[in-house]
Amino acid sequence: MSNQTMAATVGEQIKQDPAIASAIETIVERVRAHSEQITDIRPPNADLKVSYDELLDRAGRVKGRALLYPTLSSGVGNGPLVEMADGSVKWDMITGIGVHFLGHSHPEVIRAQAVAAIEDTTKHGNLQSGFGAYEFGEKLIAHASKNSRLKHAFITTSGAMANESALKVCYQKHYPASRVLAFKHCFMGRSVTMCQIGDSHAGREGIPLSTQVDYMPFWNDVAVEKVGGPTKFIDHCVWRLQQYIDRYPKMHACFIFELVQGEGGFNTANRDFLRALMECCKANNIAVWDDEIQSFGRTERMFAYEMYDLGEYVDVFCVGKMTQACATLFTEEYNPKPGLLSGTFTGASADFTVGSRLLDILGSGDYYGPDGLFARHHKAFREQVRSLMERHPDWFPEASFTGELVGGVGGMMRFTPFGGEKAKVAKLSRVAYDEGVIMFYCGHGPYHARVLPPLPAMDIADWPRVFSVIEKAMARVASEG
Ligand SMILES: Cc1ncc(COP(=O)(O)O)c(C=O)c1O
Repeated sequence: MSNQTMAATVGEQIKQDPAIASAIETIVERVRAHSEQITDIRPPNADLKVSYDELLDRAGRVKGRALLYPTLSSGVGNGPLVEMADGSVKWDMITGIGVHFLGHSHPEVIRAQAVAAIEDTTKHGNLQSGFGAYEFGEKLIAHASKNSRLKHAFITTSGAMANESALKVCYQKHYPASRVLAFKHCFMGRSVTMCQIGDSHAGREGIPLSTQVDYMPFWNDVAVEKVGGPTKFIDHCVWRLQQYIDRYPKMHACFIFELVQGEGGFNTANRDFLRALMECCKANNIAVWDDEIQSFGRTERMFAYEMYDLGEYVDVFCVGKMTQACATLFTEEYNPKPGLLSGTFTGASADFTVGSRLLDILGSGDYYGPDGLFARHHKAFREQVRSLMERHPDWFPEASFTGELVGGVGGMMRFTPFGGEKAKVAKLSRVAYDEGVIMFYCGHGPYHARVLPPLPAMDIADWPRVFSVIEKAMARVASEG
């Protein structure tokens, strides 16, 4: 029978080919067999040290500066453990800033990548594509639309591009409004526009300012206490928002809500506070744009807007990082005119196969809710920090700030040693790396130690093991001054 007369396309025949399917299973099994050798941290292999230093040097020469973090992986790991190219094994508690949520060498990720590898091309685009990008989009919309009015998705290649697309959608809908509202300490990505909106001087140093941004305070327990309680703080913030709106009538296209702040310090907010601001936006025809690029999937619900029960307000939404493929979602009313959103790439085949599998996994496990796995991990993390605080109160001095010394939600975890001093907290992440834990920092002062672990791939019993390494690192930082 010729190919033309067979019911299935040749592409489908390849996908159904038992020899290929069995080869893929062999790959998954062989990777698993190798990966299972990795069961604990270990120091660098002395024989590989020189070549690793050479690799770091070469990488630095490519970038024009030394890597911020000396990490080059060997291409294998086992759940939360990752092997580096120098043979060392570390606990990966930062996962590419939240990208590898299923940890390392997860069989589902290996399988999804192998399936992607048999496709005829690596990349898909807006003009020419297989169905993978849209299957990923369908799954995302199916989850998102359970508790919001989000209906369509534009798939793209990075969080910054998802945000750029969201901003264009808001501008077009509210033309000629040109101003943007955002929270203090927000982060939106590194494009020319997003670095202007992001509230960090270093992120926009030397960049001409062409975007007009009005900053609002984020929820802050200390400020709440100072003004005399939550209601007063909320009233004050709504009053400030109204002042901006009155000062620039009809000139705000959107308010960007990063519902759990990432780079800004893993700050959570109060539902009534967010709702009051969103109500004010609705009353003034300002788009509510929810940037969940860092928080998606990690809080106690799949979407942070579900955790706060605010889905009905969201007009535009962005996701990225752990989903591999990034996306801008919008409601029917915000569907832009043709020509506004496009681009050569939507992503690579593996972005869609892995991203789709991740969405299936998150949608089917016992992950969410107050007793779900992520909440239990968070509790175990806090217990470890509190135990450190009890045993080493000198590492947690009364800081100039009075906020909680341990915080975040779900898989966004932070603690604040050494008074939140930048030099010491940054040093902790370097020393922890040497000792065997990859972690980082966040916040703009106080600085917090930041942990973004691969929760679905971790056991609760791993926490004491991780913290015994962190404790060693903290002792070194404390003693070295
Ligand atoms: C909240 C938020 N928005 C946007 C971005 C930008 O994403 P990307 O680095 O993929 O461009 C990030 C990245 O850290 C983020 O945390």
